[in-house]
Amino acid sequence: KPKFSNILIKINEEAADFYHRVLISTNAGKPGYNYAKKRGLNPEIISHFRIGYAPKQNNLLLTYLRGQNFKDEDLIKSGLFVQSQNGELFDRFRERLMFPLSNEGDYVVGFSGRRLAKDKTEAKYINSPETEIFTKSKTLFHFAEAKKAARSEKHLILYEGYMDVIAAYKAGIKSGIASMGTSLTDQQVYMLRRITNNIIINYDGDDPGIHAEERATRMFNQVGGFNLGIVVLPEKLDPDEYVKKYGAEKYQDEVKGALTPTDFFLKRLKQKYNLSNDREKLAYLDEAMKEIAQLSNPVEQDLYLNKIAKEQGVAQDSLKVNLTKYRRQQN
Ligand code: CTP
Ligand code: MN
Ligand code: MN
Ligand code: MN
Ligand code: MN
Repeated sequence: KPKFSNILIKINEEAADFYHRVLISTNAGKPGYNYAKKRGLNPEIISHFRIGYAPKQNNLLLTYLRGQNFKDEDLIKSGLFVQSQNGELFDRFRERLMFPLSNEGDYVVGFSGRRLAKDKTEAKYINSPETEIFTKSKTLFHFAEAKKAARSEKHLILYEGYMDVIAAYKAGIKSGIASMGTSLTDQQVYMLRRITNNIIINYDGDDPGIHAEERATRMFNQVGGFNLGIVVLPEKLDPDEYVKKYGAEKYQDEVKGALTPTDFFLKRLKQKYNLSNDREKLAYLDEAMKEIAQLSNPVEQDLYLNKIAKEQGVAQDSLKVNLTKYRRQQN
């Protein structure tokens, strides 16, 4: 890997090494180490993701970096410090498990820190602010590494969170990246488009996660040319919780069973109707036909018509008549 010339990247890289060393080999890092262990992070994982710990004391990173002869002016611009009223600098991240966030060239440009405590008075994660080198909307966690893995795994898998990417990695899936929350951006969609058109979306199985999968699907379809798979995990579990509960193999099966966008849409649609009531069933079929009419491939249309016909006990031919109606309306 070539050396970086940008001073802010240099500072963030040094900070990543510092936090990492604190976590794996100091007394000040013990709380972080115990937390990491409790979350199932083993030494290989900690090293692959360069996970670290920001200790409790509020100036250890500052002292370290000043000792490396970085100027305060640059330290301020790095995003790693907060300034008090009288201009004094303090470490921004304290008592947090640190996830380095890297750019496309795999250089650290910022961090996200998770609180260890269960108490919810503080934000679960805090991030570096936007800086000259860090724009959250153009960042995907684990992107540079996943890019390499995508060559053999032939797809990228999109998660919400750091711990989900890590859980997938432990389960043998190395092509995971995270949008760092449910607000996927257009810039992130274009970043993915350049690597592969095979994208599997696996957000959390809770309501916000499923809604965000719908939104993400629309965004990918707007850009176009993607081949999407959508995983909906049961019991509102997120991927990390799922792997913990059901194991790596079952998780891999969930990924293999990813739904097509149409199946995903139909599954969601079905939940809105009481299908034992004929009036509601007709309304469901009507909405379903509108969706299927959008598909450009007639074979694909037939596939879903057949499925729905069987499932709802109606003739495929009569569904097809409705379909033609909607297709005409479209044009
Ligand atoms: N997130 C964030 N700030 C928050 C909460 C969430 O930036 N206050 C982002 C993080 O990238 C997080 C992702 O959104 O990983 C998904 O949020 P959530 O599902 O709530 O967290 P988990 O990833 O499940 O984290 P954990 O397992 O540690 O609870
Ligand atoms: Mn979530
Ligand atoms: Mn809902
Ligand atoms: Mn989650
Ligand atoms: Mn989680």
